[in-house]
Amino acid sequence: MEKLVIRGGAVLSGTVRIGGMKNAALPILYACVLVKGKCVIENVPDVRDVTMSIDILKDMGAKITRTAPTTYEIDCTDVRPGTSRPELVRKLRASYYLLGAELGRFHKAHVSLPGGCNFGGKRPIDQHIKGFEALGAKVTVETDEETESGSVDCDAPDGIIGDDVFFDTVTVGGTMNIMLAAVTGKGNTMIENAAREPHIVDLANFLNTCGAKISGAGTDVIKIRGVKELHGSTYAIIPDMIEAGTYMIAAAATDGCVKIENVIPKHLEAITAKLEDVGVIVEELDDAVIVTGRGQVNATRLKTRPYPGFPTDMHPQMSAMLTRAHGTSIVVEGVYENRFKYAEELKKMGADITVNGHTAVISEVDALHGAEVEAVDLRAGVAMVIAGLIAEGETTITNIVYIERGYDDIVGKLTALGADIKKIDD
Ligand code: EPZ
Repeated sequence: MEKLVIRGGAVLSGTVRIGGMKNAALPILYACVLVKGKCVIENVPDVRDVTMSIDILKDMGAKITRTAPTTYEIDCTDVRPGTSRPELVRKLRASYYLLGAELGRFHKAHVSLPGGCNFGGKRPIDQHIKGFEALGAKVTVETDEETESGSVDCDAPDGIIGDDVFFDTVTVGGTMNIMLAAVTGKGNTMIENAAREPHIVDLANFLNTCGAKISGAGTDVIKIRGVKELHGSTYAIIPDMIEAGTYMIAAAATDGCVKIENVIPKHLEAITAKLEDVGVIVEELDDAVIVTGRGQVNATRLKTRPYPGFPTDMHPQMSAMLTRAHGTSIVVEGVYENRFKYAEELKKMGADITVNGHTAVISEVDALHGAEVEAVDLRAGVAMVIAGLIAEGETTITNIVYIERGYDDIVGKLTALGADIKKIDD
């Protein structure tokens, strides 16, 4: 089994270059199903979620060529609806974008229920279904409680008819899925209480280069004017703000000085503000940030919220750093019903963290010590890497396939910054 082995104590310094954003690349890859023609997608990160999505699309009849390490040519002209392989689709929550894409192109969809990181809470898709029904689709969900599997079928024999969709809860996936279903629908669609994340804007920008007419992405009201069909285009994915934030926190936690290149500083504002709040220096350049530690960080209070709030996908990494902060910190998870499974792993390393519902209280300890810990999900896994970097002694992390879902070459990038980290296969 592959593991990461980290010897703590290194002070990170140097430069790291950020890749394309996983959570923008995934919907954009599935959005190619809407296009009868060739799309060229650039700056695609080399992570497991992407390679799994490429395999799913190839299974469905897409012709895909990797023309460079981060560039794919994708032609979905011959894709057939409802042909995604269940055993692959169930491993990857983002595969549910096939629902919107198949519905938009074929007016019907059949996809197995999503899997992906389960933080111990439910991750429903009721808002996606509400949106599809508002656009004229009949949706049936079949679930098998025993195997926790099932599938979703959508059918819109009269095609997609534009309408208003109001989300009860802000949902990134729901906003994207409705966008995918509506772009080639008849008439206009308005999504209200839409998610505002940068990757929503990236998907809208990609679709508009294919001939869609989407306005308002990045605000909580998105307007879509249905067009007859989409044509191929060439598009480059935005940099990954969560990968960037992860290296920012690693630099701060080790009291280092690191330049993080190929970022959009505006996307990092909430992370930058919080790091400055705990005493870290963050210098913003046009397409980079320089993070410099100033000794022990101070404790803070933090609540995760949809963008532009502090990202939920950065909360485990922040908690790992706060285990060594001066004082007592409060971390509130404001997006998911439960995302604290990593707390038990941090306790194995000597952290003083108490979780009660949506809130964790993290008190200062003199030091963390190395231990054998598990990556319980993607961001929890990378939080254990940060804890390992600042712990005394050696930390071993198992189940690292989670980390590889969202981080390209984390061992190489951290080693280049001076970390003592290696991947072993025992
Ligand atoms: C996306 O998940 C990301 N995944 C997640 O990143 C991220 O944490 C999340 O957005 C929030 O930013 C991908 O992009 C592949 P949501 P998604 O729908 O779309 C509830 C990572 O680490 N909800 O915005 O599934 C839901 O339960 C991953 O890269 C409903 O109640 O997130 C949650 O509490 C982890 N009904 C909240 O909304 C619905 O129909 C936000 O979920 C949909 C969602």
